[in-house]
Amino acid sequence: MRKQSIRNVLLGMAALITFNTANAETTTKPEHGEYRDWRVLGVSQRHDKNSMRAIVGNHTAIAAARAGKIKPWPDGSIIAKIKWAERKHPNWEQASVPGEFTAAEAMVKDSKKYAETGGWGFGIWGGKTLNMLDQEKSAPCFACHAPMKDQDYVYTLPNL
Ligand code: HEC
Repeated sequence: MRKQSIRNVLLGMAALITFNTANAETTTKPEHGEYRDWRVLGVSQRHDKNSMRAIVGNHTAIAAARAGKIKPWPDGSIIAKIKWAERKHPNWEQASVPGEFTAAEAMVKDSKKYAETGGWGFGIWGGKTLNMLDQEKSAPCFACHAPMKDQDYVYTLPNL
């Protein structure tokens, strides 16, 4: 049952992302376009917060992950984490699926610009706009990602 429910979660997320992509506006700059056009790097489920996440990357991040060149992630990589409340599928209660959208966060790799925070800038999406946090507001983000220094501060282990 457990295995089936994980499979359903993944199928649900894949369907959701495909749906969003199909409806996304065309952007002239895919590299810096919004996260809804991007591909999946990973998924996670946070049991203590009943929250579900999809982790997606821009072209640079996906290409690096597929080539296994993520130590360090190349400059220009952007990783986004989309968060939803977890809920049971109304027609299949063994499956957890994304409920209410809660937030979308981002990490932008620029080893020079963000040298103070491991080469990563931290930001939050407001719709299609990525609002980068200043150094003070990034501090809690960086502090929690710091234990992942050996993985270039990224928790997600792409399995593509
Ligand atoms: C309490 C610890 C904690 C804090 C604070 C935190 N993160 Fe994370 N972050 C995580 C963990 C753990 C993951 C991976 C698992 C998950 O949540 O899906 C993650 C994943 C991410 C990812 C996907 C890439 C990766 O590392 O796997 C992004 C993007 C991200 N966080 C951005 C942010 C931003 C922006 C902030 C600040 C606004 C922030 N995080 C604050 C713990 C934290």
